[in-house]
Amino acid sequence: MKTSFKNFNLIDHPLVKCDITLLRDKKTQTEIFRSAVRRLSNILAIEINKGLKLKEINVETPLEKTTGYKLDEEIVLVPVLRAGLSMVNGFLDVIPDCNVGHIGLQRNEETLLPIEYYFKIPKLKNNSKVILLDPMLATGGSASEALKYLKKKGAKKIIFACLVASPEGIKKINKEHPDVKIFGTALDRELDNKGYILPGLGDAGDRTFGTL
Ligand code: PRP
Ligand code: URA
Repeated sequence: MKTSFKNFNLIDHPLVKCDITLLRDKKTQTEIFRSAVRRLSNILAIEINKGLKLKEINVETPLEKTTGYKLDEEIVLVPVLRAGLSMVNGFLDVIPDCNVGHIGLQRNEETLLPIEYYFKIPKLKNNSKVILLDPMLATGGSASEALKYLKKKGAKKIIFACLVASPEGIKKINKEHPDVKIFGTALDRELDNKGYILPGLGDAGDRTFGTL
């Protein structure tokens, strides 16, 4: 579904709404939280990759020869540590042969600015499609830094996949990275004075890894 935000695609689906509700519920336990994130990531992976390029190949069924297809684009997944890790398996369920890079960023709780601690991504080809994964787009500081790094490493086609986005975060990415399309499963109201998304789901990393 198109929203009034440029470059933001909200996945509007009844199954998404149910799983987002599970994530929001403070009573949801870690195991259920993780499995809901995985299902939402499956759906995002399918929606984001609708337009993937294919090449035709020959295939022989038990009965006759026919035409089949294989992907003609390389997809590289890049989760932002820690919380982005929770989305990787859901994407790999759908696109099993992706290479995976990692970007380590942590928000300073006072300044809300991202601090970098780890970067490693696979060698990118000219036409590699990079999908940046982070469940939360809050102030947008972390996503913007990650996108700058990916571009420095030569990424030309980048999509940002998140679960919950704030208006503030979308605006920042639209302004600083107008070439990047964002896909999300929820668009929330606003940020509180500590940079948390409202109504949100709390701290995605803590809820995924049980570090509350
Ligand atoms: C969370 C989240 C994003 C970031 C979003 O990570 O996973 O990376 O905050 O906030 P922003 O849009 O304001 O930058 P956090 O820094 O809490 O690290 P963690 O995943 O290790 O818990
Ligand atoms: N990071 C989170 O994990 N949750 C928020 O609401 C904002 C940033």
